[in-house]
Amino acid sequence: MGAKKIITIFGATGAQGGGLARSILADRDGPFAVRAVTRDLNSDAARALAAAGAEVVAANLDDAAAVERAFAGAYGAYCVTFFWAHFSPERELVEARLMAQAARAAGLQHVIWSTLEDTRRWMQLDDPRMPTLMGRYKVPHFDAKGEADQLFRDAGVPTTFLLTSFYWDNLIFFGSGPKPAADGKLDFVLPMGEAKLPGIAAEDIGRCAHGVFRRGSELTGQTVGIAGEHLTGAEMAAALTRALGREVRHLDVPPDVYRGFGFPGADDLGNMFQFKRDFNADFCAARSVEVSRALNPRLQTFAQWLGANAQRIPLE
Ligand SMILES: NC(=O)c1ccc[n+]([C@@H]2O[C@H](COP(=O)([O-])OP(=O)(O)OC[C@H]3O[C@@H](n4cnc5c(N)ncnc54)[C@H](OP(=O)(O)O)[C@@H]3O)[C@@H](O)[C@H]2O)c1
Repeated sequence: MGAKKIITIFGATGAQGGGLARSILADRDGPFAVRAVTRDLNSDAARALAAAGAEVVAANLDDAAAVERAFAGAYGAYCVTFFWAHFSPERELVEARLMAQAARAAGLQHVIWSTLEDTRRWMQLDDPRMPTLMGRYKVPHFDAKGEADQLFRDAGVPTTFLLTSFYWDNLIFFGSGPKPAADGKLDFVLPMGEAKLPGIAAEDIGRCAHGVFRRGSELTGQTVGIAGEHLTGAEMAAALTRALGREVRHLDVPPDVYRGFGFPGADDLGNMFQFKRDFNADFCAARSVEVSRALNPRLQTFAQWLGANAQRIPLE
């Protein structure tokens, strides 16, 4: 067998990149090798990747020379930015440009750009449905990723644009889980009315990305949207009730109320849920469960994900 093709993975110690790294490392006879990028070679997550057989390299996305070194000699790369680490869409754009240009310089044959919709394609900034944020965005952590798609096209990099979905893991790690109400029952807040939320187990994003790399040039230049299931808030609450053995109610609130919750990013997330609600047909159509399962036959449903993870959801 010839040498394996190296895939450089940003975010390899985190959710998306971690799922991809684990999926490739588990595929021992497969065509790819993992080059995991981290800022800290000594973290537990970095050491675990090395122990599992990954090449682990240090790079920060603010360091062009380090990104170029991370791409040198690689076949492909998984590129993702980390909005919630800094809350800056402008920084995401700078980092995406840097990765696109470094990918071009390294002659990468297949890049996956982890993207989301530029919601300004659906709403002008003066659209009164929701406030404009940070001067030129409707949903900052979506819009900059969508705007950055063009940076990869302009750089002439063979890119698959991977439209990701809401991680169900947010119920564990992002404060999105059910909360006790005054009557002792649990309320699951999802400000989307009867609309469906495409969701996915975070681990499955990387597994789907692995499937995209396997398909290769057939998917460069394409946008691929992934989800494990499309569910309404009521359907999610019913699944949570079954998994937790306690009644969980869907609590719909107006987007304005959600935007006013006051936690960092509440306005961005309020706009995001409203976008997903108000343009639900487009948003769901862009994320095919069938395509996702073809890329990743182990794709989990929400009930399957809850079966393994419900007890980890904090209910305080
Ligand atoms: N939560 C959701 O539902 C959801 C859904 C769709 C899309 N997203 C998007 O997903 C993105 C985050 O991806 P994720 O959830 O996979 O990330 P994550 O799990 O929070 O973190 C991934 C890893 O990235 C590394 N990292 C952070 N800043 C870095 C930098 N400046 N340079 C190099 N590496 C850096 C860190 O590794 P080290 O500490 O080892 O360096 C971190 O462990 C966000 O932009 C978000 O908008 C989230």
